[in-house]
Amino acid sequence: MKEPKKIRIAIDGPAASGKSTTARLVAKKLGYLHIDTGSMYRAITLKALRETIDASDEQQIVALAQRCRVELEPSEFGNRLFLDGKDSTSDIRLPRVTSMVSLVSSYQGVRDILVREQRRMSAAGRVVLEGRDIGTVVLPDAEVKIFMIADVGERARRRKKQLALAGIDADEKKLVRDIEERDKKDSTRHMSPLQKASDAIELDTSNLTIDEQVDFIFAKAQSIINWV
Ligand code: CDP
Repeated sequence: MKEPKKIRIAIDGPAASGKSTTARLVAKKLGYLHIDTGSMYRAITLKALRETIDASDEQQIVALAQRCRVELEPSEFGNRLFLDGKDSTSDIRLPRVTSMVSLVSSYQGVRDILVREQRRMSAAGRVVLEGRDIGTVVLPDAEVKIFMIADVGERARRRKKQLALAGIDADEKKLVRDIEERDKKDSTRHMSPLQKASDAIELDTSNLTIDEQVDFIFAKAQSIINWV
């Protein structure tokens, strides 16, 4: 019998489209590693805030990204993110990080450092990566590529629930505005903009349950893994 294939799954999409939860569950079902690339950009942004470095100073931000140690450690409830050895899993989701992260991630020097690391972590396969540029830049030859979209109102509701779990009470209308603004910045930036790869499958999750999303991607992956 042939060995199952060790594939790479790329999941891209706009803010709060449900990528993280879906990617985490798909990875769990397959016994794969889940790599949330957004959390890595968030970690660099958090470090800039901690060191009170002006996010518009590209040179300083790139230098900071170079000396920053970002590690993802799988746990039962999803990845823990360690920044320079300190568990920063909750802090990277703070609203002030969210509002600055698009600027920090628009710098090519920052992207070069993180993309190199993401490719290194994916080299052996058996990974689910999620972000904005996985299918287009990080792993253009990934075996499964998904582009997740959802209605902005639904995305704001999901984000409100997620923040409530972290004890943050957010205004839904403001969340809609913030999400639209971040999508605009991420899609119109010069470097690796948020964009559907030509060979990615578009998955509209507005009316899907998490289980339905996970099953859809799992079935696609299984058909390739067991393909001989
Ligand atoms: O979870 P959410 O949808 O809020 O975003 P995220 O995946 O945590 O990503 C945060 C930000 O990082 C995005 O708005 C992008 O600006 C940036 N990002 C990126 O540029 N490239 C990636 N591969 C992943 C995230």
